[in-house]
Amino acid sequence: MKRNIIIAGFFLSSIFPLAQQYGGMWIPTEVNEKEMKELGMKISAKDIWDTTKPSIKDAVVQFNGGCTAEIISPKGLLLTNHHCGYGQIQKHSSVKNDYLADGFWAKNNGEELPNAGVTVDFIADIKDVTPQILGNTKNLEAKQAEDVIKNNIETVTKSFKIEPYQKVVIKPMYYGNKYYAYIIDTYKDVRLVGAPPSSIGKFGSDTDNWVFPRHTGDFSLFRIYADKNNKPAEYSKDNVPYRPKHFLPVSIKDKKEGDFTFVFGFPGRTTEYLPSIAVEKIMNETDPAMIDVRDVALKTLDEKMRTDQATKIKYASKYASVANYWKKWIGEVEGLKKSNAVGKKQKYEQALIAKNPAIKTTIDEFNRLYTAQAPYALSRAYYTEVVRNAEALTLANNYYNFINAVESGRMDAKTLESFKNRMNSFYKDYDGELDAKVTAKVLALYANRVPAQYLPAGFEKFKDVNQNLKTVEEWSKNSVITGRGSLNGATAYSDLNKVFADQKALVQNLKKDPLMQLFTSMREAYMKNTDPKYNEYQSQIDALQKKYMAQQMETDRDRKFFPDANSTLRVTYGKVAGSNPKDALYYGYQTHLSGVMEKYIPGDYEFDVPQKLIDLYNKKDYGIYKNSTGDVPVNFTATNHTTGGNSGSPALDANGNLIGLNFDRQWEGTMSDINYDPKFSRNIMVDTKYILFIIDKFANAKWLIDEMKVVK
Ligand code: ARG
Ligand code: ASP
Repeated sequence: MKRNIIIAGFFLSSIFPLAQQYGGMWIPTEVNEKEMKELGMKISAKDIWDTTKPSIKDAVVQFNGGCTAEIISPKGLLLTNHHCGYGQIQKHSSVKNDYLADGFWAKNNGEELPNAGVTVDFIADIKDVTPQILGNTKNLEAKQAEDVIKNNIETVTKSFKIEPYQKVVIKPMYYGNKYYAYIIDTYKDVRLVGAPPSSIGKFGSDTDNWVFPRHTGDFSLFRIYADKNNKPAEYSKDNVPYRPKHFLPVSIKDKKEGDFTFVFGFPGRTTEYLPSIAVEKIMNETDPAMIDVRDVALKTLDEKMRTDQATKIKYASKYASVANYWKKWIGEVEGLKKSNAVGKKQKYEQALIAKNPAIKTTIDEFNRLYTAQAPYALSRAYYTEVVRNAEALTLANNYYNFINAVESGRMDAKTLESFKNRMNSFYKDYDGELDAKVTAKVLALYANRVPAQYLPAGFEKFKDVNQNLKTVEEWSKNSVITGRGSLNGATAYSDLNKVFADQKALVQNLKKDPLMQLFTSMREAYMKNTDPKYNEYQSQIDALQKKYMAQQMETDRDRKFFPDANSTLRVTYGKVAGSNPKDALYYGYQTHLSGVMEKYIPGDYEFDVPQKLIDLYNKKDYGIYKNSTGDVPVNFTATNHTTGGNSGSPALDANGNLIGLNFDRQWEGTMSDINYDPKFSRNIMVDTKYILFIIDKFANAKWLIDEMKVVK
């Protein structure tokens, strides 16, 4: 019965009848081969995952612990997003060689640039170790079971025979109802090969972020290097390009709506199996609170960034990162409302209860726990965001840890050095005067929005923004932690070493610093009034969520469940598709170079276009990279269920050829982390034709194209 409700709901709202019902991010050893084939896949599950012979998984890696990347040549050429390689591109940039602004293209292997610390992880094997982890915990109560599980994880991790370059990571699935072991090969010599200028790789920047129609060439190229035996090795000039077991052929065939596609990568975190009450709290309370704080911070930063170039440069990366999730949460809240996520979940709960009345107790208990936790969750959301966005408080937080380390005797030379380095790079991109404004404003928000019982005594005095602006500027101007005030005649900017030379004097100074005192009172109030209660409820919620997950799986037998994303390798599949996000508004599935030119604003920091690209456009010099419309396709959308971490993931066709590079989702569908809905949820990819067009025609890096296997 419930199943009918859900299917009817999905089919009524779906624009094409073959839409998969639930989306899903599948463990590659357990993909739904039948449904994938029904949707059009021509290869088999074994071609995707096989440990006995080369398979597609051998070409997919986790890039530097966060994004995904894929191998596209027999010489270890690696494709990922521009925004994933951004840090590396930035590190190699200087005023003279500004690779962020102008792009970078190695002309041969010798010109490829090493990146200390950057790693790529291959998943060599996946083992279900549930019996070993949970076997002896059946009759234990929750707290005891937790300890036994911890022990088991340690023992099982050690039980694998691995190579020196391998590691074993055991991850819970389905909220701890299952456990999987991942055997991981880590390669450590990863070199930068190519990147387009930001005016291509980050075209549209924050304005277009999370938005379709999109026109971003969000890609960069790296190469994996190995030792002479093709094994992982630290960087050495004697290392050679890695020879992969498998690499992805690159298809430049035209795409059409309805084409089968799948995405293979490392999605970070989703929460698809929450009870309705949890979704309601996110939608109505915690998301809006976090959005509120960031609203204030971003507006204040933007005012100065627009008029002052130095500030623009200092804050570009921080602004982008704060704005990224700010914008995502706004989309998420709207999407949850629009897709009636709470209503759908409530119906689902009722249907589950009808089949298994015991679930009523679970739902009631969730309602009780989430309702009781709500004020603490809200207070926590504000606290975290206030400390993150008011940089004076972020700094104070760091110095708070510094004081603790000094006073407890944990501050050795190495810790001090790394602390100073961290602070030094923070100050480089810090504007104390601007931050004093941000801090003043978010403090007022904090004082006004959070009930007094969670705040330090006397905090009402921060309710008045205008007063705060004066007070905080005064404090900031004289503070050592902002780098504006001095100690022993030195500031963090003039001589950081001197500031830290006498640790005792520094600690004494810090303790008298009003910003430090403010932060300390906020932190102490938070640790006393919010944190313990929040955690107490959260651990009960976690235990209940584990039970509810098991109940959903036992009761809803027809549904194929996938575990929520947890940064492990997954396969998701769907169809190339446009969408109808609003009444009478239809987004086509594909954008083109002509659309880049429509958005072109000369000199603009988001929508400028490089002259060379304009020339190619004017001459229509598109080579083999145009499609049947005579234009070069730039981005396209599909119904693949993706999330943060899927950036850089390969989008493959029915034959396992690369057709796109995943980098974003469409705003109207970002609630997919909580409630995937095939009507609104679309992943956005860079078309392989655009990638090859930029490499070949724009960068003249034909030698890279020659390495690839191009499918025409
Ligand atoms: N929204 C995408 C993701 O979550 C892209 C972010 C990078 N781009 C940007 N303009 N901030 O990562
Ligand atoms: N842009 C995201 C990433 O960097 C992908 C997404 O959230 O859809 O992983």
